[in-house]
Amino acid sequence: VKKPPFDIHALRADLENMISDNLELGPSLVRLAWHEAGSFDCFKKDGSPNSASMRFAPECLYEGNKGLDVPRNALEPLKKKYSQISYADLWVLAAYVAIEYMGGPAIPYKWGRVDAKDGSVCGPDGRLPDASQTQKHVRSIFKRLGFNDQETVALIGAHTCGECHLQYSGYDGPWTHDKNGFDNSFFTALLDEEWVVNPKVENMQMMDRATTKLMMLPSDMCLLLDPSYRKYVELYAKDNDVFNRDFAKAFKKLTELGTKNLYDAPAAES
Ligand code: HEM
Ligand code: CA
Repeated sequence: VKKPPFDIHALRADLENMISDNLELGPSLVRLAWHEAGSFDCFKKDGSPNSASMRFAPECLYEGNKGLDVPRNALEPLKKKYSQISYADLWVLAAYVAIEYMGGPAIPYKWGRVDAKDGSVCGPDGRLPDASQTQKHVRSIFKRLGFNDQETVALIGAHTCGECHLQYSGYDGPWTHDKNGFDNSFFTALLDEEWVVNPKVENMQMMDRATTKLMMLPSDMCLLLDPSYRKYVELYAKDNDVFNRDFAKAFKKLTELGTKNLYDAPAAES
């Protein structure tokens, strides 16, 4: 444990306040940390993950990152107030605080990520998963990031929170009835609901027959169709504690990809 050069206790409290004032911010912070890391290639060791390289062109302009200017801009006042934290560390801390605030697991936080200086280190476009595709594509993307099937399913369980925005992705709506909560309900919805094509959205997406209020992407549905993925969908639907534990581990790994010499932060007080 090394004392960070910023008041992490006060920063956590400020983040919590910011999220409680604007519940939609929470899921968008989780997506920001994920997309920042999701540019990595574990074989080529490039793509500048966990370096806040998404602040720069070309990465900020990629189609898949549409809408992420909202959480980036929301964090600017805190970056000014706690100027000693790197953007990269701030984005990850904000995601951890959001997950815990929404009822998800506490993730042990490490700091020391180094910010990219400009856009020259950005990975190429096309490294984030395409929601219109299925298991072959999803598996190849997560293999490139260094994740196995179990970790992949756990990570996609983050769709328990938040929603799709037509103006960002061309998809519409939340995955669960409590989009501000974080638990295994993405998996219970996936297994328990009857999913039919939503005729009202131009992009192919599914809706639950019972209420028509919920949605699944083709890339979500493939977790049911692929036997190796489905095994973990069933496991996590049955056991929220196992989901929380596996999600925490996989999300910590995601948000530490490509980093070195990180320091343990003092434990969060509750
Ligand atoms: C939202 C696709 C994996 C976290 C979205 C959206 C799409 C999408 C299309 C809607 C964006 C918008 O319109 O605002 C995918 C695909 C994945 C994937 C294709 C993999 C096959 C993940 C992972 C995480 C994640 C691994 C985190 C660990 C989120 C969150 C939102 C979201 C929290 C909601 C954002 C908000 O409410 O503003 N995802 N995603 N996703 N994704 Fe994913
Ligand atoms: Ca990046």
